[in-house]
Amino acid sequence: MIDILLVSANDACAAQIDAMLRDCGIAHTLRTEPGALRALARHAEQIRKADLLIIEDSAFAATDLAAIEEATTHAPNLSCMLVTSALSTDTLMAAMRAGVRHVLSWPLDATAFARELAHVAGKKNAHTRRAGRVLSFAAGKGGCGTTLIAANLGYALAASRDKRVLLVDLNQQFADASLLLSDKPPPATLYDLSTQIDRLDPAFFEACVARVHPNLDVLAGAGDPVKAAELRASHLQRVLALAREQYDIVLCDVGQSINPLSIHVLDQSDAITVVLQQTIAHLHATRRLLDLFGELGYAASKTRLVVNHYDKREQVGLDAIERTLGAKPAHLLPHDAKSARQAVNQGMPLYTVAKNGALAKSVDALAALLCPPEAVPRKRILARLFAAKPDARPQLKPSH
Ligand SMILES: Nc1ncnc2c1ncn2[C@@H]1O[C@H](COP(=O)(O)OP(=O)(O)OP(=O)(O)O)[C@@H](O)[C@H]1O
Ligand SMILES: [Mg+2]
Repeated sequence: MIDILLVSANDACAAQIDAMLRDCGIAHTLRTEPGALRALARHAEQIRKADLLIIEDSAFAATDLAAIEEATTHAPNLSCMLVTSALSTDTLMAAMRAGVRHVLSWPLDATAFARELAHVAGKKNAHTRRAGRVLSFAAGKGGCGTTLIAANLGYALAASRDKRVLLVDLNQQFADASLLLSDKPPPATLYDLSTQIDRLDPAFFEACVARVHPNLDVLAGAGDPVKAAELRASHLQRVLALAREQYDIVLCDVGQSINPLSIHVLDQSDAITVVLQQTIAHLHATRRLLDLFGELGYAASKTRLVVNHYDKREQVGLDAIERTLGAKPAHLLPHDAKSARQAVNQGMPLYTVAKNGALAKSVDALAALLCPPEAVPRKRILARLFAAKPDARPQLKPSH
């Protein structure tokens, strides 16, 4: 059941949205308030109680979007939908920066509307059943090793830390993550899965992933940009919700594809590792990426910097990185062309073909950093120390 607050500038539009909500078959409650986007703060009290805020306004100015941020400050789990006839790419990105993840144009398309509502309902369910952690890997510039790191980290967590891991390849150009871990073609791709999303259940999901280790599955990327463009946020939402239930860790290789679709995945990530190299171009792109994360409302603690191909003799040193990006890199992976070449050319993990190489060791250290061994709570240690051994004889009182 999702609780919806509809703030609409036009009574006729509000009535149509109400009718569409009743037709889409998603359990909900609806409260409707008249009003324009710029006056949203007036409804802050009701916004706090809602799961979904729908704002219908076709006459707003870009500056009015600030009202959304203001009105939703104390509602961290709220989903926002903006319905407007004044939709452009600039409005879309400005709305996303203001925290709106569902932007639809008026007149509403019933299928698109139902899909977005299913997304919100799925998010609410995932929130209550959440188990596995979602860790995403992104970069301001391509080619810096994001996929190699995500794939091999997945293998390290699965093979030496006994975690059940899923790697999802979200690269929207020519996805290649599965090639780094296996020489066999994957049974299906994220695109294939999303075209049959209504069949999604644990058994169907298992049939779609490539098992590259008893503990590591890979959901291959869409394959090409045309297919990737057909992926829908609501589909990814369902895939991630199911993955969280089935795996301890879900690694998402986002790479440099930052767009409305991948922003949905980043929103749902527990942590984001940002990969960069020691060049001015990387510093510039990473600064812009971190600024965007700030505008999307991510806490600085959600993001970790990792430098790949690290070389202490490089002109762009750690000081410059810290000064420009406002944070110390959490980890440094060395340039190790021999290990990387061996692994990539054979389609095998570093852990198998170059286990003692500098790069494999550094990936293992990154695994320890991102997923530290679970500490045994102090209470349990004490309980174990003082617990009577099962075969211990009862203590006899000394006889006098
Ligand atoms: N630390 C490293 N030392 C040496 N070579 C590396 C290292 N990390 C990655 N490489 C190599 O760099 C190349 C690019 O790596 P990878 O495909 O992982 O980058 P990417 O950031 O995912 O690229 P894209 O933007 O195309 O998705 C690969 O040939 C890989 O083997
Ligand atoms: Mg890549």
